[in-house]
Amino acid sequence: MKYGLPYQGSKSRIADWVLSVLPASHTLVDLFAGGGAIVHAALLNGKYEHIIANDKTDSMMVFMEAATGGFEGFSTVVTREEFNASDDTAIKILYSFGNGGSSYLWSDDLAAFKVPAAKMISAPSLHERRIAYRTFCRELVKFLHIGDDSMRLQPIECLANMQNLEALERLEALERLEALEGDYRLVKIPEGATVYADPPYRGTECGLYADFDVDAFDAWLGGVDFPVYVSEYTCPPGCVEIAHTEHYSSLPSDRNSRTVERIFVQERFADQYQPDQPSLF
Ligand SMILES: C[S@@+](CC[C@H](N)C(=O)[O-])C[C@H]1O[C@@H](n2cnc3c(N)ncnc32)[C@H](O)[C@@H]1O
Repeated sequence: MKYGLPYQGSKSRIADWVLSVLPASHTLVDLFAGGGAIVHAALLNGKYEHIIANDKTDSMMVFMEAATGGFEGFSTVVTREEFNASDDTAIKILYSFGNGGSSYLWSDDLAAFKVPAAKMISAPSLHERRIAYRTFCRELVKFLHIGDDSMRLQPIECLANMQNLEALERLEALERLEALEGDYRLVKIPEGATVYADPPYRGTECGLYADFDVDAFDAWLGGVDFPVYVSEYTCPPGCVEIAHTEHYSSLPSDRNSRTVERIFVQERFADQYQPDQPSLF
């Protein structure tokens, strides 16, 4: 199951594991919700009655739009110029390298045939699909004299992923979700809620992750009067690890690369942490 929007740093592959580690309560607060992988998984699994999902970008608004059918029939395929001129979050996510929101997905020689290839499948009229087909054939022949690495049409796969979110509307699960856009420090935390944080990792300072102040986050973590369960690769100061899991890359080119995902909590709250008991039923 793919959860959430296609998104740089998405926790889709480990969302079920993250939820199994987080303590049960009435409300889950995801302070850095990004593409909403954890939120999507939580809406489906029913562990929390309410879910508050925040991000400094409007990604959770795009998530809501996707989940309420807003991308049905969406078939836009953008060129580099259109990408650079756009301030639409969905376009930025779909057509950026690694879904990171900053640089255009394809180099110029790949874009020459990948844009028409995508239009050939998704353009609204037969006429436009035919024109795209002819351009695709011409550009592909040119390109094959240079060489190619892959024919994957990532935006088409990503769109399918966004359209999958529409299932949430039918589940009426969205009534349990409050989507916010703003800084994590401004989110009002309900008493007794489970607070989860998946901030930009230390050292990733580009695209959607630019300008994140790690020191300010560490200071905030040290000062708040509630536990915060943090996804990180290295332990934030004053925290301890409560769980980790390993997975291998899903990229065929990177099959042997192993990633260890870890969850930490502030040391002063570690004694309170109780993993959920496995159900007997
Ligand atoms: C690692 S991503 C989260 C990925 C998410 N867990 C998922 O599965 O899609 C980190 C997110 O933090 C957001 N972010 C960065 N600075 C922030 C801030 N000050 N307040 C709230 N969100 C912020 C970024 O926009 C980005 O979406």
